[in-house]
Amino acid sequence: MCGIVGIVSEREVSSTLLDAIKRLEYRGYDSVGMVCIADGVLSTKKDIGKIEEVEKKVNFTALKGTIGMAHSRWATHGGVSKRNAHPHEDCNGNISLVHNGIIENHNELKAELQKKGHHFTSDTDTEVIAHLIEENFTGDILETTRKALCRLEGSYAIGVICTKKDDELIAARKESPLVIGLGERENYIASDIPAILPFTKKIIFLENGEIARLTKEKVEVFDLKGNPVTKTIETIDWGAKQAEKQGYPHFMLKEISEQPTAISDTIGDRMTEHDILLDEEIQKAIPNAAGLKRLIVVACGTSWHAGLIGEFMLEELAKIPTEVEYASEFRYRDPIITEGTAVIAVSQSGETADTIAAIREAKKKGAKVISIVNVEGSTIARESDAVLFTHAGPEIGVASTKAFTAQLTLIYLLTIYLAKKRGLLPQPQISNRIRDIRKIPHQIQEILENQDSIKRLAELFFRHTNALYLGRGINYPIALEGALKLKEVSYLHAEGYPAAEMKHGPIALIDNKMPVVVIATKDNRTYTKVLSNIAEVKARGGIVIAIALKGDKEIEEKVDFVLSIPENSYILTPLLAVIPLQLFAYYVSVLKGKDPDKPVNLAKSVTVE
Ligand code: M6R
Repeated sequence: MCGIVGIVSEREVSSTLLDAIKRLEYRGYDSVGMVCIADGVLSTKKDIGKIEEVEKKVNFTALKGTIGMAHSRWATHGGVSKRNAHPHEDCNGNISLVHNGIIENHNELKAELQKKGHHFTSDTDTEVIAHLIEENFTGDILETTRKALCRLEGSYAIGVICTKKDDELIAARKESPLVIGLGERENYIASDIPAILPFTKKIIFLENGEIARLTKEKVEVFDLKGNPVTKTIETIDWGAKQAEKQGYPHFMLKEISEQPTAISDTIGDRMTEHDILLDEEIQKAIPNAAGLKRLIVVACGTSWHAGLIGEFMLEELAKIPTEVEYASEFRYRDPIITEGTAVIAVSQSGETADTIAAIREAKKKGAKVISIVNVEGSTIARESDAVLFTHAGPEIGVASTKAFTAQLTLIYLLTIYLAKKRGLLPQPQISNRIRDIRKIPHQIQEILENQDSIKRLAELFFRHTNALYLGRGINYPIALEGALKLKEVSYLHAEGYPAAEMKHGPIALIDNKMPVVVIATKDNRTYTKVLSNIAEVKARGGIVIAIALKGDKEIEEKVDFVLSIPENSYILTPLLAVIPLQLFAYYVSVLKGKDPDKPVNLAKSVTVE
């Protein structure tokens, strides 16, 4: 949802700004723009399209100046056009502004400012902020911006520069993410850490309602009343290289391939051979984990699918009644939080607006919040009572892949931890379950090494227009996730369904052109039922692609194509079954000539509601 970066330095900044904004392109790619100040004059270049295309057209690095900002847009208010691309200026071309978020009272403010003679050149909600600052400008850009912010309703992360104070970069946030990076005689702002990782690892996380003044020598932070705020400088341990493609054609493929490492790193030292060591991370929030009566998982998209699998794990092993809610729906009901209820928020970015709103609602009602988050310092991480970080490293591809399996890993560890606390898992079973998860990275590696068969299957199907994904039990959410991956990166229409529900409607869609992907891993629970569902599809001429266990001869006779995965315990099959589906979606996207890293209309983290 829009990426912003800004730099104030003693050297020319345009090429560094370009480098930084490219790392944020996953946040939006409808248009891109850059502004610098040189000799007291603002110079702006912007246009619609991806950064690479626009860069060729406008040559951003020709911009001169030691202070500047850049913005990649995911359109909310105002269509995708050059006039709506950021940065936006005031009437006199003295103030320039980049923004991520939504100004909800922009219509009223615009009418008020127009009456005072302000002339607007875009259809965005953002432009009002530049005019509001201009209208009240006192010569002190920090102070005037602070006062302007007090008039805004909605969400914002902003960067402001002004020709009258051309050594100051102003930054502020409310509900939209923004970090400050501290460099050597230069300082930065960015929507997300990967943008500035090559330049610094020293980060200040700006909180809601804070405003900062950056010069090349120092950073000062204030609250919206103007009081100074003392901030902690955090050191980020991600390497800059981790946020690069490292020879892979796309981030999506790189991140799919990184899953063995992401899972091993997420396990880290949270496990010994015989025990799960989560006390330190959980106990301060939930001193009496054994007494938990109910869990509510809140999440969106792929993280919500991880939550559905979590529900299965938590109910089966830890015997805690668990509900999984779309974060966006949870907050608009009147959720009942009874004593002993804890909320688990699952989010890669930690900045998804709906998930943030859901945890705030839960906390207001007295629930403790445990979050499972990938990005350190993110809003969800900071606002939760306890945080379990997935150590998947930066996930840049818009389609979530490695974050998903890392989330499943942590939910699994949490489940065993809670089951043990509740006296439900005898020691030998804990040791067995630990052995099972330890096998997963190697087993995923095995699937990755055989990805040619998945690529060949994509070659057969990339011209199709529809697909159905079916799964049962713990693999039903994998059907949802497989369909979501295909939809988002290849624009094929795909539906995920519980296999048995198919006959209550979707069966009407099946004909000899419909590929039906069925997760049919052999177990003693639903396998025979899934075979019946497969027979129902075949009877209507459907083409069946099965995700099955290696060595399953029975299935080979019943379906058209088989993608094999290694065997592990039933409860861990989702971590394996999802891999061929991620790869299938990736290859279909590439074969269709699409860019899987930047699907149209999507943005990596959805920071608006
Ligand atoms: O950062 P989060 O995990 O909170 O994001 C939630 C969803 O926006 C995200 O999973 C989205 O569905 C992905 N594009 C799926 O690949």
